[in-house]
Amino acid sequence: MSTTAVGQERLAEVVKDALDVLHEVLERHRVTEDEWYAVLRFLTEAGRADEFVLLSDVTRTSVLIDAMSHGADEAATASDVEGPLYREDPPWREAPVKIYEEYEGSDEGEVLFVRGTVTSTDGTPLPDAVVDIWQTGPSGGYDVWDERQPEYNFRGRFKVAEDGAYEFQTMVPKPYTVPTEGPVGRYLDAVGQHPWRPAHIHFKVTAEGHQPLVTQVFFPGDPYLDDDTIGAVKPALVRPLERHDDAAEIEARGLGAPFSTCDFDIRLRPQNAGA
Ligand code: BEZ
Ligand code: FE
Repeated sequence: MSTTAVGQERLAEVVKDALDVLHEVLERHRVTEDEWYAVLRFLTEAGRADEFVLLSDVTRTSVLIDAMSHGADEAATASDVEGPLYREDPPWREAPVKIYEEYEGSDEGEVLFVRGTVTSTDGTPLPDAVVDIWQTGPSGGYDVWDERQPEYNFRGRFKVAEDGAYEFQTMVPKPYTVPTEGPVGRYLDAVGQHPWRPAHIHFKVTAEGHQPLVTQVFFPGDPYLDDDTIGAVKPALVRPLERHDDAAEIEARGLGAPFSTCDFDIRLRPQNAGA
C-alpha cells in the first residue's frame, strides 16, 4: 500500500485497530493453524485471480465504504458501488444514443429507453455532463462473459444535450450472478451466500465543477431487490419501468414490439460541497 494515498499515521492507527479486532476474533473462535493457512491460501488465490474488488463487494465492504464516503444527501442522487465490471475507454455514442447491437439471444428481451436530466443540486442544468453506462443484456450477462455479443455491447459514453437532458436506447437487463468460477465463488458456496444481483444499470456521471457520481438504477418487482448479494440496493435508486404497447408509439420509435421507458434524473453535488 502506498503511503501517499494513506498517511503513515493514519495507516498505523487503522492497521493496529484492524489487527486487534482480527486477533480477538481468531482467539474467540480458537481458529486452528490449518484453518488459518486455508484462509491465507484463499487470499493468495483471490489476489492471483484479481478478485479482491469482488471479495470487497460480496462481503458488503464496498457498500459500507460507499456509504461512508458519499453520505446521504437528499439534494444529490445517491451513489452506489462501482463493482469490477467497468471497462475503461468505452465507445463514444452519438445521439440518438443506442448502446448495443442485437445478437443471438437479444430477442428474448425488451427495448428500454432511459431518460432524464443532469443538473446540479440547485437544479441548474449541466450541459457539459458526460454519462457513462454499463450493464448486462437480456441474455448472457456482460459482454466480457458472452461470446455472442460484440465488444463493449451494453456499454457507452455520451454527452447530454444543452439543457442537460439525456436519453439512451438499451434493453431491460436481467438479474445475474456475480462470477462464481473463481475463489470468491468457492467462498460464497462455503458461507452459504447466493451469488445473485437484481437487474440494474450502472452509471458514471461527470460534469465540470461537480463531484463525479457512480451509481446504479434498479427496477421494482425484481426477485433479488431485497436480497442483492452485494447489498447495494437503495430505495431512491429503484425506478419504475413504464411499458408502451401503443402501435403508433412503437412505430414512432422505429420498433416492431412494445418497449419500456425509465425516468432517472441525476443531480450532482458541486465540487466544493461536503460529501
Ligand atoms: C456488478 O454489478 O457489475 C457487480 C458488482 C459486484 C460484484 C460483481 C459484479
Ligand atoms: Fe453490474
